[in-house]
Amino acid sequence: MTQIPGCVILDDAALEGRNTLRVAARAEILVDVHDVSALPALFELPAFGALPLLVLGEGSNLLFAGDWPGIVLSMATRGIDVLGESGQRTRLRVAAGENWNDFVHWSLARGYRGLENLVLIPGTVGAAPIQNIGAYGVEVAETIAAVHVWDRHDGHARVLDATACTFGYRDSLFKREPDRYLITAVDFELARDAPLRVDYAGIRDELATLGDGEPTASRVAEAVARLRTRKLPNPAVIGNAGSFFKNPVVAADLAATLSGAHAGMPAWPSVDGMVKLSAAWLIEQAGLKGYRDGAAGISAQHALVLVNHGGATGAALLGVAKHVARTVKERFGVVLEAEPRIVGKRS
Ligand code: FAD
Ligand code: EPU
Repeated sequence: MTQIPGCVILDDAALEGRNTLRVAARAEILVDVHDVSALPALFELPAFGALPLLVLGEGSNLLFAGDWPGIVLSMATRGIDVLGESGQRTRLRVAAGENWNDFVHWSLARGYRGLENLVLIPGTVGAAPIQNIGAYGVEVAETIAAVHVWDRHDGHARVLDATACTFGYRDSLFKREPDRYLITAVDFELARDAPLRVDYAGIRDELATLGDGEPTASRVAEAVARLRTRKLPNPAVIGNAGSFFKNPVVAADLAATLSGAHAGMPAWPSVDGMVKLSAAWLIEQAGLKGYRDGAAGISAQHALVLVNHGGATGAALLGVAKHVARTVKERFGVVLEAEPRIVGKRS
């Protein structure tokens, strides 16, 4: 295929090293975009009009159910620009291809707070708004000022403010319209004096083990990193995509019935009088923690994590996920929704 400056284009590319579930899928064409200015020429190429297009970050929230029958476009752009400082606040523009955890550490090193609870989440900055990444009581939407996109519908670059992104729990405009927006950069507003958030279960205890003294943003990040490392399997050791299901948000009467039948079931108030349940708890109670079907299974370390023990196909992993969702529905009447995007040709 024609080469475009600012991009690297490869035919028939292996994707096994580009998804953290380590599924051996392939793409007809793989494009690494190193310079945003290449986008207009790239989208003029006939193949871009003819073939399905998948935007890829670090592949930590994707399940390739099969090969991708078209173009995979990976944002590999870099750069963090300070747009302005005012008192304790700063506004930053971060390129989509920057690594999320590196950016968190960049902000901590400069004394900016707001991202410390989101340390160690895999993936790129460009993917962070897609599902409004969240952890330990904080969602990234709280610090996003604007998202820069290439609108694939009309071939124009635009800027969406945070309100236009309609962020929710593991949700956004981008997740609801997966084939429209290519995120090119994200603007953040961070503050040196933002309050630290230490209420999420486990943070205070972990801070106490780190020693006396006032907590700092770096200490909160260290506490969260320790909790995460203990709880979640490491994708460098065993293929996984983090939580495979969202925590289900159910009607209050269903939650009350389940709480009555299962003393100690975790449940948290959610939006509009609904109740958020723990998908991990439901899966573990259904007897599926550590479940295995060949190389595909559920982590024995955390019941919400689908794992590839080595060589599992996307179809096999999807089969295990369906078995889990079916079993939880039969046992508790609760529908589990996948968190990662499931892509590729299903057999
Ligand atoms: P990918 O997996 O490559 O893509 C995810 C989605 O975003 C796809 O739909 C893709 O098309 C789209 N996309 C990616 N980049 C762009 C772009 N530039 N423009 C448009 N669309 C794009 N998530 C949490 O919220 N909280 C957690 O605590 C958390 N912990 C995790 C722990 C582990 C061990 C793992 C493996 C994953 C975890 N995740 C967590 C999920 C994942 O890290 C996030 O969803 C992350 O934002 C995905 O980034 P990525 O670059 O890998 O995106
Ligand atoms: N639990 C079990 N069995 C398990 C693990 C957990 O029963 O094997 C129960 C426990 O009762 C625990 C509860 O589940 O109290 C919650 O567990 P945890 O704190 O690990 O959080 P989670 O609900 O499983 C969510 C996010 C994570 C995020 C953590 C921390 C979702 C889908 N997942 O997990 O995000 O890191 O909270 O905030 O909301 C991801 O999205 O990929 C992800 C890892």
